[in-house]
Amino acid sequence: MKFAERFKDVKPSGMLKIFQAAEADPEVISLGIGEPDFDTEPDIIDEAARAARAGFTHYGPVQGLPAVRQSVCDYWDRRYGLKSTPEEVQIMAGGIQSAYLALQALLNPGDEVITAEPCFGPYFDQIYQNQGKVVHLATTAEEGFMPSAESLERVITPKSRVLMICSPSNPTGRVMDRARMEGIAKVVEKHDLIALSDEIYDALVYKGNHIPFASIPGMKERTLTMGGLSKSHCMTGWRLGYAIGPAPLIRVMTLLGANQTYGINVSAQMAAKYALDNHDHKTAERAKIFFERLSYCSDRLNAMKGIKCAPPEGAFYLFPDVTGTGLSSEDFAWRLIREAKVAVLPGGAFGECGEGYVRLACTRSMDDLVKAMDRVEEFAKGL
Ligand SMILES: Cc1ncc(COP(=O)(O)O)c(C=O)c1O
Repeated sequence: MKFAERFKDVKPSGMLKIFQAAEADPEVISLGIGEPDFDTEPDIIDEAARAARAGFTHYGPVQGLPAVRQSVCDYWDRRYGLKSTPEEVQIMAGGIQSAYLALQALLNPGDEVITAEPCFGPYFDQIYQNQGKVVHLATTAEEGFMPSAESLERVITPKSRVLMICSPSNPTGRVMDRARMEGIAKVVEKHDLIALSDEIYDALVYKGNHIPFASIPGMKERTLTMGGLSKSHCMTGWRLGYAIGPAPLIRVMTLLGANQTYGINVSAQMAAKYALDNHDHKTAERAKIFFERLSYCSDRLNAMKGIKCAPPEGAFYLFPDVTGTGLSSEDFAWRLIREAKVAVLPGGAFGECGEGYVRLACTRSMDDLVKAMDRVEEFAKGL
């Protein structure tokens, strides 16, 4: 069969190959998957069933049910002081759809999208699929793997249109501080960029409080905040996310969404509303568990030969430096899964500046993590 010229070379990502290798061997402890190991809480599931029985079984508004959009506003206001209105919110099929629709709404062919790297790998394909051009903004461990105003300024061209940032970050688990955000905000404003701020890990911050990029003065009108319930409420399979942004942008994204998904499962939306309104205490409990796991693993990694790891700041990831082992991150990940039966992801999958690092997701029980760290330690010793 012939496919569109632009998509004829579409390939599964390198990450997928590691996931497949991990799944194929039951002895492997996978620290590869960026998904909480906790199930959705039963009362959230009950609410979806109640809503369906109460008649939430029909098409809903494409932008999302107004009451659910209000709950998104309340959640961000209550927790982080970000004020918005339901007309500035769109409910999405996962946070991932927010980025897709935003890029579709904003880009002309050849427009440049600056990705602060290392970053969530799907951004690259999303930019390509929406005819944009990726401009790689590399960061370093010394700057906490977060972009600076100066490094951003250096990659700006007349074609620059969008900046993609993510804090807490996947893959690094690092968090951007306010001073850095303020510096970046000045550049965004100066060059009339739109910021796509991926804040899907908002509920998992261990260093101060989460700061929405849109709350930095001048940024509300040029930022799309991308969020969702996958990580905060352990609802990955429900495919429930949202975007908060300027109403004119949300209007266009809603029109595009009408031809794509025609809105989001309405009983699932009601479950999301219930979760957003009632589960702050549960998200805090889980954040505590993730922090304990991350702290344990980073301490263990730091005691290993050739491995250095920054203390956890956010999300459920660690991004240790493995250059001291003498292996590339690809070789480290493949040898680790084959020889020690632990799956991690090579840092280069998240942008070139991730080379020399690997991503560990602490999304397994403490017992599994103890076993996994014992195995990594033995592996590192034998190199
Ligand atoms: C940084 C980042 N953004 C977006 C997503 C997509 O999440 P969702 O399940 O809400 O589509 C993920 C999932 O791994 C992620 O890590």
